[in-house]
Amino acid sequence: MKNMTIAIDGLSSTGKSTLAKQLAEHLDYIYVDSGAMYRAVALFAIENGCSHTKGIDSKKLISMLEGVAIEFKHNSSQVSELYLNGENVESKIRTMEVSNLVSATAAIPEVRQLLVQQQRQMGAKKGIVMDGRDIGSVVFPNAELKLFMTASNSTRAKRRYDELLQKGMDVSYDEVYQNLVSRDHMDSTREDSPLHKTDDAIEIDNSELTLDQQFELVKTLILNVKK
Ligand code: CDP
Repeated sequence: MKNMTIAIDGLSSTGKSTLAKQLAEHLDYIYVDSGAMYRAVALFAIENGCSHTKGIDSKKLISMLEGVAIEFKHNSSQVSELYLNGENVESKIRTMEVSNLVSATAAIPEVRQLLVQQQRQMGAKKGIVMDGRDIGSVVFPNAELKLFMTASNSTRAKRRYDELLQKGMDVSYDEVYQNLVSRDHMDSTREDSPLHKTDDAIEIDNSELTLDQQFELVKTLILNVKK
């Protein structure tokens, strides 16, 4: 089936985007990292005086949302990168400063409304793999395949810590661990579109799975959708 929508949701750092990229390449589908879009709005808030030490000035951010233009463009290696108002912000959105503010930003209904509308447009023709927190529940409730990814806290923190170190960022394991736990809590308890597993989603705990094992498992699930 060429025209499927695949929704991948789950806790932070469960390898959603790695799996989504593998699937998109395998199926020749579009891949959209919806979390990058929320990260871009958090970065916009930081750069435009809508944040303070403890959080987000949501009133000010809402009043400035019209000035947020988000776009994905492919680089020379065909990797999709995020642009905020014409600037490539792919590295800037992965910093701990952004990670510490993104869940508060994503809890603002006006922010979600803006991004969900754009995400639905991107998926209007199907043939898309999107990962996030509310993709199977809100953005594409009719997706043909919905996956819900989990892994133990320590596995996830270790993976994210290694990833950030590899990117040359100066972070501690404890800081990364605390950020994951706090984001999971905020993302799962917010009023608007909280993270939860829908009844029709298939849960994959990949704590003990290699990338190849996970990919093979999901390819089988796709074959079952096609029947
Ligand atoms: O990569 P990681 O799983 O750590 O996070 P992400 O996918 O980059 O998402 C960053 C944050 O954006 C999440 O912690 C959520 O607060 C928010 N988000 C959301 O609310 N809804 C989505 N569909 C995607 C992300």
